[in-house]
Amino acid sequence: MGATEAAEAGESGAIVDLAALGEEFARHPHRVYAGLRAQGPVHRVRMPEGAEAWLVVGYDEVRATLNDPRLTKDWNRAAADISLVRASAGPNMLVQDAPDHTRLRKLVAKEFTPRRVEEMAPRVQQMTDELLDAMLAAPGRRADLVEALSFPLPMGVICDLLGVPDLDREAFRHWSNIGVGAGPIEEKVTASREVTAYLSALIAAKRQEPGDDLMSALISAADEGGDRLSHEELLGTAWLLLVAGHETTVNLVSNGVLALLQHPDQLADLRADPGLLDNAVEEMLRYDGPLETPTYRFTTEPMEIGGTLIPGGGELVLPVLADAHRDPARFPDAERFDIRRDARGHVAFGHGIHYCLGAPLARLEARIAIRSLLERCPDLALDAHPAALTWREGLLIRGPHRLPVRF
Ligand code: HEM
Repeated sequence: MGATEAAEAGESGAIVDLAALGEEFARHPHRVYAGLRAQGPVHRVRMPEGAEAWLVVGYDEVRATLNDPRLTKDWNRAAADISLVRASAGPNMLVQDAPDHTRLRKLVAKEFTPRRVEEMAPRVQQMTDELLDAMLAAPGRRADLVEALSFPLPMGVICDLLGVPDLDREAFRHWSNIGVGAGPIEEKVTASREVTAYLSALIAAKRQEPGDDLMSALISAADEGGDRLSHEELLGTAWLLLVAGHETTVNLVSNGVLALLQHPDQLADLRADPGLLDNAVEEMLRYDGPLETPTYRFTTEPMEIGGTLIPGGGELVLPVLADAHRDPARFPDAERFDIRRDARGHVAFGHGIHYCLGAPLARLEARIAIRSLLERCPDLALDAHPAALTWREGLLIRGPHRLPVRF
């Protein structure tokens, strides 16, 4: 099935089998979503992950769905479907509704205020400089930007913030990739077991040697007892922050740099006027943001979205962030990458009570990484045909596995 067939299935009301689109869908998801949007805002789909879902496309409907109080994020209320299990170490704010969500979010929110994050700028700059030093020293003036910069920078920053310098990053990357990927369920169950054991050991070590860091603060909140933070929630929160550090900002840097390299006029404008950088990063979030869809929401009652009635009882509803951003009704000439456009109103960080807690940090990292990369590499260019890039599978993450560059 190609993009056209997918659109036809959407039109006839039949289930759209996104799983059958394979590599082509991973490469060009926007085309498929646009085809569905032309037929209407809500479609029954089979996801590459295996489960069935109600997919919501179009800016207005996506934004409203993100903040619809009739949808729950509590997995216990989902219609029974084992294939929805993800590798997670415990409950966290992203899979809770109020009041548990409010309590868990408050515990970490004070670490992520714009002021606290701004204080991290010198450390982020230092890490970026060290990574670029290593990249530029490599022979051949070629590198995979994912390995050299986009992955290690956010990972280093989140580990620093949590106070876990000795994290086994390769092992963690493996579990995290399985957790958010589209692989078999048995793999996820095993990863979940392994990551729980690993994080428990990490927390035990941190409890022995507390520091002035977020993990130590969370541990003492859990150790105080009462209802502030249970030990399962401590595990779940540590997992959530590490995965958010692993899987998201990496793709803001990679997709953003790729967009620049594919639009030489925009790259030249940015080089000529670095003052455009903050706006350029917002456009990168809109044009090809790191998350194609957000985390799962389930119906608690029958509800209508855009003229389609969705049953209650835990049906999975998935608003497509990537499509909201390409909706010409909201963003004129939406397919065009334009670092001067007003990209405000994008939903790359979500919308409503689950709005990304790490947004100021992600923006800081991306601005520093991209500014420094362009300064240090005046001849930066793509070192592969764009069609040769392979993309992360599944509906959650949008980003290339590797990004070969020369400089
Ligand atoms: C460019 C990078 C990032 C993007 C695009 C992004 C995107 C998002 C989105 C869309 C959500 C909402 C999900 C939903 O409603 O289902 C979210 C939530 C969240 N993000 Fe991010 N994120 C990024 C980086 C980060 C970083 C670096 C951190 C922390 C270190 C972080 C921590 C969180 C947390 C804790 C939540 C849950 C908030 C809640 O449930 O109240 N994110 N993120």
